[in-house]
Amino acid sequence: MKDSTNGDLSRREFIGGTGAAIVAVNATTATAQDRDAAEARAIAEVPRTRIEITVNGQRQSVDVEDRWTLVELLRDHLGLTGTRIGCNRGECGACTVLIDDEPAYACSTLAVWADGRSIRTVEGVERDGKVSTLQQAFIEHNAPQCGFCTSGQLMSATALLERNPSPTAQEIREALSGNLCRCSNYNAIVEAVQAAVKMGGA
Ligand code: FES
Ligand code: FES
Repeated sequence: MKDSTNGDLSRREFIGGTGAAIVAVNATTATAQDRDAAEARAIAEVPRTRIEITVNGQRQSVDVEDRWTLVELLRDHLGLTGTRIGCNRGECGACTVLIDDEPAYACSTLAVWADGRSIRTVEGVERDGKVSTLQQAFIEHNAPQCGFCTSGQLMSATALLERNPSPTAQEIREALSGNLCRCSNYNAIVEAVQAAVKMGGA
């Protein structure tokens, strides 16, 4: 081989360089393995708690990580993806579910706090396999546009009609004030709730 000062590698430089590359690759692999092992250890060490909850009428015992939010439990571990995550920080209401019949932001509620409580999600509002009166009114009055806020709106409106079967338009607006609609379809949503009242309630 020619001297490397001429732009070519000498045999010694080539072998030396290759060896260094192999060491570097091994070091990278070892680091990745260490990282994976550390990650597995960290997951195994995460505090967990067994909680008893009733979800849409079904009582169940669930092993949860203490850091999970209720919406993570519902969506990622119980397969109830009707509850949406919008802001994930208690601002938009997309994640609204009913806890013991009261609307609550599931993104801002730890799953362990739901121990012993009854949770209702949008999957639980249907009646005998059919949409609820409120859901039917939402459909007929075009309350969902993109639909992202709809399950949260439905849950807040369901709670309202269960405690006040004939609310005024102002009471409906107040009850839904924690549910933002980025499509700004507020008038249609209020009309849908008023229609549900005429159709017989939630
Ligand atoms: S996703 Fe929970 S309040 Fe926005
Ligand atoms: S229908 Fe689109 S956010 Fe409300």
